Amino acid sequence: MLIINNLIPEIMKIVKSVTGSFLLLLVLIVVTATTTASGQQTKKPSPALPDDLNKIFTNSCMPCHSSKGGMMSQARLNFTNWTQYSTEKQKEKAEDIISVLEKDKMPPKNARETRPGIIPTKEQIAIIKNWVDSLKTSDKK
Ligand code: HEC
Repeated sequence: MLIINNLIPEIMKIVKSVTGSFLLLLVLIVVTATTTASGQQTKKPSPALPDDLNKIFTNSCMPCHSSKGGMMSQARLNFTNWTQYSTEKQKEKAEDIISVLEKDKMPPKNARETRPGIIPTKEQIAIIKNWVDSLKTSDKK
């Protein structure tokens, strides 16, 4: 009897520690489950810019249209966040891009004068045009 009485506190300790780890495990499962669930909610990023386009935009547009650029230009178009635009929005932006390029509206006049090196060449504009067209046709697949 004495032995059993001595054993009870020991057993209680074990029970407590087991319950403790069980609770810890439960908390871990719940936390993992919630983070996984919320992870599934963040949609996967939209396609990145192809390398050749990225090069042109980096030189000609990203001085302004990136997270390092001005507020106004960033708000209109931000290449740093390109993959965070939905594919739909990417298409809209692509249309805007080719439209301003074909009208020589971008880069802005004062930037063309002070930094002529950022003006995209005819060949580069043709590459951009092809890309915009390819985005349009990817619709119909
Ligand atoms: C020197 C800075 C600068 C450079 C370089 C520049 N932009 Fe802009 N861009 C701006 C600013 C500022 C605005 C916002 C103008 C406004 O809201 O009136 C703008 C607006 C735009 C818009 C929205 C236009 C509209 O009418 O809605 C597009 C599209 C655009 N830029 C594309 C480009 C592309 C493509 C390039 C590169 C070939 C480029 N920009 C280079 C400063 C720049």
